[in-house]
Amino acid sequence: METVVSGIRSTGNLHLGNYFGALKNFIKMQHESNCYFFIADYHSLTTHPTPEDLHGSVKQVLSEYLACGLDPEVATIYLQSDVPEVTELYLLLNMNAYVGELERTTSFKDKVRKQPENVNAGLLTYPVLMAADIIIHNASKVPVGKDQEQNLEMARKFARRFNNIYKVDYFTEPQPYNFGQALIKVPGLDGTGKMGKSEGNGIFLFDDAKTIRKKVMRAVTDSGPTEKNQKMPEPIQNLFTIMDIVSEKETVDFFKEKYNQCEIRYGDMKKQLAEDIINFTTPIRERILEISSDDQYLSKVVKTGAEKARASASKTLKEVREIIGFKPFVTNQYEHTK
Ligand code: ADP
Ligand code: TRP
Repeated sequence: METVVSGIRSTGNLHLGNYFGALKNFIKMQHESNCYFFIADYHSLTTHPTPEDLHGSVKQVLSEYLACGLDPEVATIYLQSDVPEVTELYLLLNMNAYVGELERTTSFKDKVRKQPENVNAGLLTYPVLMAADIIIHNASKVPVGKDQEQNLEMARKFARRFNNIYKVDYFTEPQPYNFGQALIKVPGLDGTGKMGKSEGNGIFLFDDAKTIRKKVMRAVTDSGPTEKNQKMPEPIQNLFTIMDIVSEKETVDFFKEKYNQCEIRYGDMKKQLAEDIINFTTPIRERILEISSDDQYLSKVVKTGAEKARASASKTLKEVREIIGFKPFVTNQYEHTK
């Protein structure tokens, strides 16, 4: 059976991008493969959360995983920081990760531009920790959104490099996965770019109906098409992309036709889109509320998950240490010569 690994950082509530880019596939894959899904709490430290926020965000993302349908009976669900083997593998991989290649990573360059006051070494080596997360279970498939393509490319590079250096065929090269389809990018409703936790443009699974209506009604549009079948500008295309994801096909076709005929009223389209999002998120929101108040259940889930994840991780780490050349000393070697 194939092994699957993926994680989401505990940096805030999950949004439609996280759901349709990643979580939806986690839920589908859990019944077909040997799945490890974790909460990347170490990765969240690059932005320096307070101790209260750190714990609160981990609990929130865990509740959201479960509320969306991840099943701890079939998948291994755990916290990254509960598996110390990951950090040891990260240290070992760092010895063969080069500063130059890490500095050239797009996400690192973005961070340098966006937060010049906090360019920490954890940001630089972010892709190494991510590679360790994946190859610690020797995974072959990684369900992620489009923005993670380059990080996956780095993970393959580090796995391949390890195999080459030690002349072994040990690590599998992990591939990003979306059921044979292109990886997804859910746009924000603020004109351009992706929906993101730190972008300030997220529609969250946990948002209530009023908040969702407000966010959708504020979405950027224009004064409408002036010619029939006109190419859509990006903000309008983005509205349709989200509608494609949450609404019935007939609804999307109806508004596309209106657009093509220059008869579209964006206000009507937004109202419909908001209701379709609310229909989708309301049951999830209710389950989040229920699950996040059950501390006993949550602690049972992470405890079982940690045990299962550590069993797999320690096996890999033991083999990796042997390949690298760490060997136990023979304790009783003089006994035989007596
Ligand atoms: P964010 O980017 O919001 O901070 P993460 O970086 O923790 O969230 O992303 C977790 C998962 O969600 C990754 O697999 C990522 O590719 C996916 N993801 C995040 N935003 C989007 C988006 N707008 N569209 C598609 N997938 C996304
Ligand atoms: N870097 C991913 C993100 O920002 C989160 C992540 C950390 C991850 N480790 C991973 C995703 C391992 C998949 C596999 O979205």
